[in-house]
Amino acid sequence: MRVSKEKLHELIKNKLNKAGLTVEHADGIADVLVHADARGIHSHGAMRVEYYAERIAKGGINANPHFQFEKTGPSTATFDGDNGAGHVAAKQAMDEAIKMAKENGVGVVGVKRISHSGALSYFVKQASEQGLVGISVCQSDPMVVPYGGAEPYYGTNPIAFSAPGENDDLITFDMATTVQAWGKILHARSKNETIPETWAVDHNGEPTTNPFDVSALLPIAGPKGYGLMMMVDVLSGVLLGLPFGKNVSSMYHDLEKGRELGQLHIVINPAFFTDIDMFKQNISQTMKELNAIKPAPGFDQVYYPGQRSAERERRYNENGIDIVDDIYDYLVSDTIHNNAYDHKDPFAK
Ligand code: NAI
Repeated sequence: MRVSKEKLHELIKNKLNKAGLTVEHADGIADVLVHADARGIHSHGAMRVEYYAERIAKGGINANPHFQFEKTGPSTATFDGDNGAGHVAAKQAMDEAIKMAKENGVGVVGVKRISHSGALSYFVKQASEQGLVGISVCQSDPMVVPYGGAEPYYGTNPIAFSAPGENDDLITFDMATTVQAWGKILHARSKNETIPETWAVDHNGEPTTNPFDVSALLPIAGPKGYGLMMMVDVLSGVLLGLPFGKNVSSMYHDLEKGRELGQLHIVINPAFFTDIDMFKQNISQTMKELNAIKPAPGFDQVYYPGQRSAERERRYNENGIDIVDDIYDYLVSDTIHNNAYDHKDPFAK
């Protein structure tokens, strides 16, 4: 099903509002989800609405949170989200980091006690669209073995970065620190397909090609991705005095409880380090030089990070967004949720 961005936004907003969120917060989540779908990150788009609706209805996303912004230094602050909509808290916290970076060269905001906040590219683009460099990291539920381990400890702990070039140029990088998202394993299960042995392990910590035997995901690049996951967990968990490592709450468990997740935004104002016009020119030059690199056999061209998502977004803005029929049917139905998400084992078959 193909729908316009505006229509998709409206459907998501209405569903979340019916689940119990205020119109303002439902609107804020819809913004981030439509951003994800428009960039082709369907794992973090409309597909999540039913899960959020169930968690809102059961009380695990606070429908009337009391957000608290507290400045802790000229360039540092915390933002307590009171377990309300993570997307909305993370967006407001990024606005505060941007203000501090404009004034003082850098702005760092620790976003505390939030629910899932979606695709991080949304937040780092808030900064780069204002001529600043944005970095954001956040925790997620434990599903990944530490290098050499047979039990999960960290989450898929994503890292996002965006920097401005000339005019509308932006270079944006946004990734989970796992080889593949859990959604890709579910997809393989649904099609009875095998998975590459680099994606996940079984209960002994052995790589597996059977998606039904998966009991943890693997970090990108072995010990190096594992190190990045640790860094994300320290910056968005330990640093903010929140549960960390294997104590981070599960996405699909205790849906009546707040998730207490953390996220850290870092905004850097290039004008405090170099000539801002030169900075933007050089970012644009980087993008052009990467595109001009000779492609390896089997590749049509080299893309700069985020390029294909940005191109997809432009196409979707004009022609509408492709949404899976079942998700569209749910969005237009009267159903709030189907009690489908509350289960204790994230790897349940
Ligand atoms: P991905 O694997 O689709 O892309 C990762 C990065 O690689 C992107 O920056 C993309 O632009 C770049 N890329 C992909 N193909 C490329 C190519 N051919 N040339 C150049 N660059 C290329 O992303 P992933 O890891 O599946 O993450 C998806 C989303 O999930 C992200 O938005 C992330 O923030 C979100 N996420 C959110 C979590 C949360 O708890 N809030 C947890 C984990 C992920």
